[in-house]
Amino acid sequence: MTAEYSRQAIIADLTAPIADIVKRYPTQRSAIMPALYLAQEKYGFIDETAYQAISEILDVPEIWVFELASFYTLYKNKNIGKYHLQLCTNVPCMLRGAYDLLDHLQTRLGINQGDTSTDGLFTLTTVECIGSCDLAPAMMVNETYHTNLSKERVDKLLDQLSQSSIKPSVEENNAATDKGPSTGTESSAGNGP
Ligand code: FES
Repeated sequence: MTAEYSRQAIIADLTAPIADIVKRYPTQRSAIMPALYLAQEKYGFIDETAYQAISEILDVPEIWVFELASFYTLYKNKNIGKYHLQLCTNVPCMLRGAYDLLDHLQTRLGINQGDTSTDGLFTLTTVECIGSCDLAPAMMVNETYHTNLSKERVDKLLDQLSQSSIKPSVEENNAATDKGPSTGTESSAGNGP
């Protein structure tokens, strides 16, 4: 995070761009989610300070902002690692070994879920369904989906991410998913970061 992070700074930085966002919606309330995302993109995370600033900019109750920010896992309330590993542990993924993968990830990274590795590379969290149940178990790395995971595939992915300074892209993932069978051992995850 390089930009100054305070309520006043956020208001100064984001009032104009949020005003542009508001133009696309029928009510101020409808602009809360994109405003939150805008703040997160700028500062790396959002917390009560950002909630207050956004509620002030949009002239809506802070509780409306908090409700959305705390419900959706795409909003981060603390600084996270370069790669955010979001492992799905909902039922289909659980039945396909998600908790074994969670144990493996925690051991391999030396952290518990919710924590960030000491090198700042990886933050590990568990999430509810990410919409890839047919390709379970599934995990997102930043905005990229990795599916049909196994411990071996996770190891390969972490090796690649550790060695790469290139953020995985949606395009790479989409290309990989196009090739990915739903039942095979080589799927989108194998096409890597
Ligand atoms: S349950 Fe894991 S992606 Fe749906």
